[in-house]
Amino acid sequence: MNLDFDTALRIVRNKDKGRFNHILGTVEKAKELANRYRIDEYKCVMSAILHDYAKNEPLHKMKRIILNHLDKNLLKYDPVVYHGEVGSYLIKKDLGINDKDIIDAVKYHVTGHPDMNDIAKVVYIADYTEKNRSHENVRYARLLSHLSLDVGVLGISDVTLHYLKQKNKENIHPLTITTYESFLKKVGVKAYDAIRNHYKGM
Ligand SMILES: [Fe+2]
Ligand SMILES: [Fe+2]
Repeated sequence: MNLDFDTALRIVRNKDKGRFNHILGTVEKAKELANRYRIDEYKCVMSAILHDYAKNEPLHKMKRIILNHLDKNLLKYDPVVYHGEVGSYLIKKDLGINDKDIIDAVKYHVTGHPDMNDIAKVVYIADYTEKNRSHENVRYARLLSHLSLDVGVLGISDVTLHYLKQKNKENIHPLTITTYESFLKKVGVKAYDAIRNHYKGM
């Protein structure tokens, strides 16, 4: 049985009321990108609704789930990344989601993944660029995501890495780095240089 949008929205609103506006913004942006790039709209929207399913879980519960059911190496990294993997586990367990595209989009929305598919790219970009976001790189990320999904992912992973390094964050999750490297390769170093020079500061 496919979960319908209204039911899924009700579930996430009840779990985390304070985050609901961000969820609605992410859904709207995911829909826009799905239509623009002709990606499966149901999967993009459902993944967007569920992407922060675990964001509000207490840290001790997330740690327990990681210890018992997921790759324990995750515990070496900044707890901010836990809710992606934990969320992908919980939507399977709690909601019976077994669509790998949706599960992976939720799992990789924080770190990215070097081989993520178009649905995961849409959610990764939508989460970062939805209309309620106002951080300094949001305009850059929006402009780049209008060029292509790959350029959008590259731009976001670039500014994310830059931000984490600037903050001297240790233990940056390796997927954050390999996502950047992989999409830089896909887009091309020269092409991205030109894009960055053109759009940075716009
Ligand atoms: Fe998130
Ligand atoms: Fe989010």
